[in-house]
Amino acid sequence: MTLLPTLAELNTWRAAQSGPVVFVPTMGALHEGHLQLMRDARQIAGEGGKVIVSIFVNPLQFGPKEDFAKYPRELEADAAKCASVGVDAIFAPEAADMYPPDRSVMVLETKLSTGLCGASRPGHFDGVGTVVLKLFNLVQPHTAVFGKKDYQQLAIIRRVVRDLNVPVQIVGSETVREEDGLAMSSRNRYLAPEQRAQAPAIRRSLLHVRRRWLAGERNAAVLIQAYQTELQTHASLGVVDYIACVDRDTLEPLTEVDSNALLATAVFFDRTRLIDNLELDGTL
Ligand code: PAJ
Repeated sequence: MTLLPTLAELNTWRAAQSGPVVFVPTMGALHEGHLQLMRDARQIAGEGGKVIVSIFVNPLQFGPKEDFAKYPRELEADAAKCASVGVDAIFAPEAADMYPPDRSVMVLETKLSTGLCGASRPGHFDGVGTVVLKLFNLVQPHTAVFGKKDYQQLAIIRRVVRDLNVPVQIVGSETVREEDGLAMSSRNRYLAPEQRAQAPAIRRSLLHVRRRWLAGERNAAVLIQAYQTELQTHASLGVVDYIACVDRDTLEPLTEVDSNALLATAVFFDRTRLIDNLELDGTL
């Protein structure tokens, strides 16, 4: 496995590739969820292809009160994890090399990014769209793999790629969970023990709504209320930031919940904000 800390080294590596290049962008602090994306990428790349991971804590996507400074940075441990799942190269640039001080161009997605997480994290998805397009231009992958855990991010990247004709195929990978159902996240480590004990109620409440939906309930307001009640009952320390029932592709809110629906939620445990979602008619 090759570590590429500069743009020049990445360019040299990329120029030497003739087969498919499959890309997994991350911010590091890698856990089993990230590793699953890399295994999926390995499979897509096949024997003749290469898997490249980026590790870059992107300052542009953190708000002023968010955890940019304390976001975990553990490149050595991350590199060992990447090697263990057959990654060929890691691109780990410095912020100064990614962003000229007088930079003046951004990617602004104006529809899908306004609701859900976008409502409480203004500018976040502008930072994500911008860094992902830059990484695509640098890495020039054939395919890039993203997690469905960050469903809104995945939908926005698909839209950026479609609207700007970016020649990269986007693949969405299933959410990897702890045994008790909590979606894996680098932020889970901030939870106090009693918060950690209650956090799986997020997933359980989404599954509760799914059962109501499977039993025939189609009214979004009723389903949303069912989630709120279930969560408050089982996670007294959780404060719901949002719960929404939206179309999976457009992320527009639904009133009648038929197929292609997504339940998406964010819950605060103190200052730690956890997200999760569920495709109502998807497989578990
Ligand atoms: P990060 O939070 O490090 O996540 C990197 C990728 O891992 C994303 O595609 C995310 O959806 C996926 N992921 C995280 N937790 C997961 C889980 N439990 N199961 C499956 N996939 C999971 O998302 C970002 O970084 C950044 O916004 C980035 C796209 C790298 C741009 O800076």
